[in-house]
Amino acid sequence: MPKKSSAPRPSGGSEAGKWRKDAPPIPGPGLVVHPPAVSLVDDGISHLPTLEALASVVRTCTRCRLAETRTHAVPGEGNPAADFMCVGEGPGATEDETGRPFVGAAGQLLDQILGAIDLPRETVFIANIVKCRPPQNRKPLPDEAAACLPYLHRQIALVKPKVLLALGGTAAEHLLGVKKSLGDLRNQVHRYGDIPLVVTYHPAALLRNPNWKKPTWDDVRIARQLLDG
Ligand code: URA
Ligand code: SF4
Repeated sequence: MPKKSSAPRPSGGSEAGKWRKDAPPIPGPGLVVHPPAVSLVDDGISHLPTLEALASVVRTCTRCRLAETRTHAVPGEGNPAADFMCVGEGPGATEDETGRPFVGAAGQLLDQILGAIDLPRETVFIANIVKCRPPQNRKPLPDEAAACLPYLHRQIALVKPKVLLALGGTAAEHLLGVKKSLGDLRNQVHRYGDIPLVVTYHPAALLRNPNWKKPTWDDVRIARQLLDG
């Protein structure tokens, strides 16, 4: 990611497109996954008509044990017609307090990353694998992710993004349905149905290990280029 300049930014967005300089080439194809078929009988999720309707169901959902310890469920938010959709792991403490995704320290870093590829946060849609905070920020358990994933599949079907960005191994694993290392999944263009899917590090991991910032900057510039093509 570019260093924050102390110089005032010229107004009028004249830095737009700066991310293109030295952006890596788009890598080859990776895995192909098929979104689950929509069930004919109404399962309470896959026929929800709008993102708002989905969010209100999520806010009172008790389909898994994470309902017992959450303060607020975090359905996700953003541009309902976004071309670019980010998927994280699950709410942390700040998200649980506010009911909004990626608003803590990792969220501020995500905002910077998105801004640097000319996709300010409000232009994208941001969601998570699980909508309720796992205690002590542990990874979601398999049954929790399985219970919650139908919401994410429906959100993707409603937003219809042109590009999906999986933030971290948990998001990648559950979107792609494989247990592979991030190293194995990065630097390929996977497909979720017709939608290209790029995998990168979770912003919280970048806060712990700044060495991952450069590869992340490459990944998000690959994802950003896929929006053009
Ligand atoms: N980490 C995530 O994976 N999701 C959030 O919403 C916040 C932090
Ligand atoms: Fe429902 Fe998902 Fe929250 Fe579990 S994590 S209670 S499935 S919204």
